[in-house]
Amino acid sequence: MLPPWLEALGVPAGLEAGRLRVADVAPHVAALPSLEHVANLVAGCTACTLHKTARHPVPGEGNPQAEFLCVGEAPGASEDELGRPFVGEAGQLLTKILGAIQLTRDDVYICNVLKHRPPGNRDPLPEEVLACQPYLVRQIELVRPKVILALGRFAAQTLLQTSTAIGALRGKLHRYQSVPLIVTYHPAALLRNESWKRPTWEDVKLARRVLDAARAAGEASGNGTE
Ligand code: URA
Ligand code: URA
Repeated sequence: MLPPWLEALGVPAGLEAGRLRVADVAPHVAALPSLEHVANLVAGCTACTLHKTARHPVPGEGNPQAEFLCVGEAPGASEDELGRPFVGEAGQLLTKILGAIQLTRDDVYICNVLKHRPPGNRDPLPEEVLACQPYLVRQIELVRPKVILALGRFAAQTLLQTSTAIGALRGKLHRYQSVPLIVTYHPAALLRNESWKRPTWEDVKLARRVLDAARAAGEASGNGTE
């Protein structure tokens, strides 16, 4: 069930995912006090084998108090080279997409499901997603965004704990631990398939509406939002 301020947007309710059990599986990650601490731990992480082939860890970057959080899949070649998320071709497209809803890279926080590059950009393996999950969960807890935008299948399925296809997940208002979550296509997929551009534009416009509604709802209840 959506709270009234979200229901007022007239978008079908989707899945409600609870917290991935980071405290149980990785209490040392659950206790990290800041995003820098998460990044430091990621830098030395050997929980899966990807650190052996990656050049640099890519923990994530952006505004630590962002209201808008983007979650991608995994670093590619450019990201691995620079240790920063979404800096290659897909990243430049993401920056444009964010600009279209009046958000800059400095406004948002951007991270990935996996913090090290899979060799040759192969799909993440289930055990890698599992091993890396605590970092993502803790990042979301620390940033406390008002909206999460899940980019592509891996981000969406990981956060929502589902195997439902991306086409069926988009266009709905999901929630991850009460935070509204919108699913859209991965920018790298858009570079391959033009026909996903229009639905992506609809998805990010929806994400923008949710952000505006969240701000308004916070102000109405006197919580202060900035
Ligand atoms: N694709 C992703 O999923 N993440 C990045 O950081 C870059 C490309
Ligand atoms: N498949 C994916 O993994 N992501 C997309 O965005 C589209 C298809």
